[in-house]
Amino acid sequence: TTVRLSDDALAIACGADAVADAFAAAGCAVERVSSWGMHWLEPLVEIAGLGFGPVAPADVPAILHGASDKAIGPIAEHPFIARQQRLTFARAGRTRPLSLEDYAVTGGWAGLTRARALAPGDVIGQVIQSGLRGRGGAGFPTGVKWKTVAEAPGSRKYVVCNADEGDSGTFADRMLMEGDPFAVIEGMAIAAHAVGAQRGYIYVRSEYPHAIAKLNRALEICAPIIAPCRIEVRVGAGAYICGEETAMLASIEGRRGEVRAKPPLPAISGLFGCPTAINNVLTLTALPHIMAEGGAEEYARLGIDRSRGTKPIQLAGNIRHGGLYETAFGITLRELIHEIGGGTASGRPVRAVQVGGPLGAYIPPAQFDLPFDYEAFAAADALIGHGGVVVFDDTADMRAQARFAMAFCAAESCGKCTPCRLGAVRGVELIDRIAASARLPDPVGALAQMHNAPKVARTRDQDLALLDDLCETMRFGSLCALGGFTHYPVQSALKHWPEDFA
Ligand code: NAI
Ligand code: SF4
Repeated sequence: TTVRLSDDALAIACGADAVADAFAAAGCAVERVSSWGMHWLEPLVEIAGLGFGPVAPADVPAILHGASDKAIGPIAEHPFIARQQRLTFARAGRTRPLSLEDYAVTGGWAGLTRARALAPGDVIGQVIQSGLRGRGGAGFPTGVKWKTVAEAPGSRKYVVCNADEGDSGTFADRMLMEGDPFAVIEGMAIAAHAVGAQRGYIYVRSEYPHAIAKLNRALEICAPIIAPCRIEVRVGAGAYICGEETAMLASIEGRRGEVRAKPPLPAISGLFGCPTAINNVLTLTALPHIMAEGGAEEYARLGIDRSRGTKPIQLAGNIRHGGLYETAFGITLRELIHEIGGGTASGRPVRAVQVGGPLGAYIPPAQFDLPFDYEAFAAADALIGHGGVVVFDDTADMRAQARFAMAFCAAESCGKCTPCRLGAVRGVELIDRIAASARLPDPVGALAQMHNAPKVARTRDQDLALLDDLCETMRFGSLCALGGFTHYPVQSALKHWPEDFA
C-alpha cells in the first residue's frame, strides 16, 4: 500500500512524522507530498485517492483494515477542495515537493520555456494582459513594475523574491516554498528573463526553517534548468519590518533592516544600487501558469473589476475549517467564514475578522457581504493585504486588540520616523489610560450632575479623540506602511465596537 501524507511544517507540527513512521512500520510505502491546505484535517493521509484525517499513529491499523472513522472520502472531491479555483496552488497535495519528475509531469517549466521563447517585452505584455497585481499586499500591477525595471538604465539587474511572510494568519508563501519550490523558482526565472536580470535572491524569514531547506535543495536540483539565471536564498533574522522592500534590500546587503524613503523606487535603484524587481512569493508563483499557453487570457477572465485572477486566501484564527483557499476575486467574507470555514472553532458567534495582517482593519459581521477585491476593501477603509483572514468570536475584547496593534507597531518599528517610533508608544499609553478611566467612576460628570450644570467633556472622551488624532498623524506622517497602517485596526475597533472603549 502506498500512503501519501504531507511533509509541510503544519502537518509535521500536528504529528505527521509519527504517523508516517507508523505506516512504514506496518509495511506501507510512504510518500511525503505537499499539503492540500485543509489544516483542520492534518495529519491528512491519502491512500488511492481516499483521505483520512486527522490521523494519529493509533488510527493506522483501522485505516489499513478499512474500518476507520477518520475516512473523509475522495480528497479531490471534498467540498473545501472542489469549490476552489487553484492555479497558484494547482499542485498542492498532489506532488512530492522536491521531485523534478512530479513537477515536469504536472506542467512544470512550460511557462519558463514559453517565456524564454518570447522577447522580454512580450513577456511583460502578457503579464500586463493577465491583470496580475502584487500579491504581497499593495496590489501594484506586476507588468508595470517589470517594465520600469526593464527600461531602467543599468547592465546589472536583480530579481528579489519577498518571502518574509510576517502577517499574522498568513502561511500561503510558506506552503508554496515548502510544497512547490520549483514553481517559486520558475516564477523568478521568468521575471529575470522579462526584466533582464542575471541574479536573484529569495529573502526568507528565519522562522521558516523547512522552507529554507526545501528552497536550497530545490535550487541545487534545478540550477541547470534555470541557468544562466542564478538564485540564492537569504535568511532574515526575525524583524517584521524586513518585509518592507527597502528594509529587505538593506538586510540582503548586510546592513541593518531600516526603511528608506522612496524615490528612488527599487525598480530604478534597488539592490546594490541596481534596478531590482521585487515580488512576493504568490505573485511569482502565479507566473508559470500565466506564461503557459493561454494562461494570461484565462487569468484575466477570472475575478472582478480591477482585481483579476485568483487569490490564495488563508483562513485562520478561531475558525472550524482553517486552511488555504484559492479562488477568483469576488468571493464574500460571509461565504469564506460561514460556508467554507464553517464559522468559529469555539462554536460561538463571530464578532470580528481581521483581514490583511496585524495592521489590517477589523471587519464586523454587518460588513460580511464585502467582496474580496482590492478597491472594495479600500472603499470600506480596509485592506486585503496578503489575504490572511483571522476570525474572532464574541469573547474578543476589541480594545485589547487595538492596544495590540499599537504595541505591535511599537515593538516592530524600525525607528526611522517619529510618528511611528513615538506615536505607537503613546498609543499604547492612551489605550491603557482609556481602560483605566473606564474602570473608575466618572468624577467630572458626577460633579456636573450634582451641581445641575452642563456636562463637561469627560477625560475619557478627550482621550478617545486624542487616540483618533494620533491615528491620523501616524497614518499621514509615517514613512512606511508599518506606522502608516496601524490606524486600520485601531480606528476600525473604535468605530465598530465603541462599547469596548466605554
Ligand atoms: P507601495 O504601494 O509603496 O508599493 C508597492 C510596490 O509597487 C513596491 O514594490 C513599489 O516599489 C512598487 N511601485 C510603486 N510605484 C511604482 C512605479 N511607479 N513603478 C514601479 N514600481 C512601483 O507598497 P509597499 O509599502 O511596498 O507595501 C505595502 C503593502 O505591504 C501593504 O499593502 C501591506 O498589506 C503589505 N504587507 C505585507 C506583508 C506580508 O507579510 N506579505 C507584511 C506587511 C505588509
Ligand atoms: Fe520605520 Fe515605522 Fe517609520 Fe516605517 S513608519 S520607517 S517602520 S519608524
